[in-house]
Amino acid sequence: MTVRGVNIDIKDLSHRYTAKSPVTFEKINVQAEPGEALAIIGRSGCGKSTLLHIVAGIVQPTAGAVKLDDTIVTAPSPRWVMMFQAPHLFPWMRVAQNVGIGLRFAGWSEAKTRERVDEVLDLVDLQNYASNNVQDLSGGQQQRVALARSLVMEPELLLLDEPFSALDAFTRASLQRDVRSIAKRLGINLIIVTHDIDEAILMADRALIMAGSPGKIMHEMDVDLDDPRDRQDPSVQSMHTRLMTAFEDAQGKKSDTSNREQPQRSVRTNANRSVSPIA
Ligand SMILES: Nc1ncnc2c1ncn2[C@@H]1O[C@H](COP(=O)(O)OP(=O)(O)O)[C@@H](O)[C@H]1O
Ligand SMILES: [Mg+2]
Repeated sequence: MTVRGVNIDIKDLSHRYTAKSPVTFEKINVQAEPGEALAIIGRSGCGKSTLLHIVAGIVQPTAGAVKLDDTIVTAPSPRWVMMFQAPHLFPWMRVAQNVGIGLRFAGWSEAKTRERVDEVLDLVDLQNYASNNVQDLSGGQQQRVALARSLVMEPELLLLDEPFSALDAFTRASLQRDVRSIAKRLGINLIIVTHDIDEAILMADRALIMAGSPGKIMHEMDVDLDDPRDRQDPSVQSMHTRLMTAFEDAQGKKSDTSNREQPQRSVRTNANRSVSPIA
């Protein structure tokens, strides 16, 4: 597989669903370099899913733009794919067919599809399940099939909207670890939307805290921890405390956004990353 990441440039992005509805968020600016994993943390209703849907090309912004390298996102594409909480598999198809369907639609031969599907099933640790019925798989395994189906198209950017919240704690932890390590191995970008601070710490290189009404990015923090990360690690726990403090601070800022346009940049140690202020 020849996969690579992408430069992400979300510029002055604003959204409101209808002229009568409140502004969902206003002037969101986010930049990321190829291969970077971002987490967006925020309370339910602050506009995280809306933001992700715009990045995925499913929803059009009211103002501003999402640029991936030189492409302005206006529609869905196999280059930027979204994983949802429900895996949305075809129950009458076997695992390999579910994973390969996009390639078959794209005109790939059966043999080439099979080869790529095997490669991707290996990546998500389902190498022995190719001919299983998807209905016989556990929830976690079904999410792995959905992940494989996304990866088979060689995306540059994988978007995850609280994708593991329906899973038990152990299954969730293994998927959090594996999705991060797969993305790192392939060099693709991740944007994970979550209300779970630990999920952000386990999966991201950088966490953005979104809050307010209309929503804004209030804080950002580098998550510069070694891999693999474990919830029990003291470094993970101290990062949790710092992010929680920033999170609570962001909630407190809600009524005070007018004079707090510039978020705090709490830590930034990766000197060669493109650093652009988020305002
Ligand atoms: N299709 C829609 N039409 C109108 N309003 C919507 C729609 N989807 C979401 N909203 C509203 O936009 C706001 C942000 O929602 P959402 O992006 O789902 O937040 P989050 O994912 O952070 O919980 C909420 O007030 C929600 O009710
Ligand atoms: Mg949501």
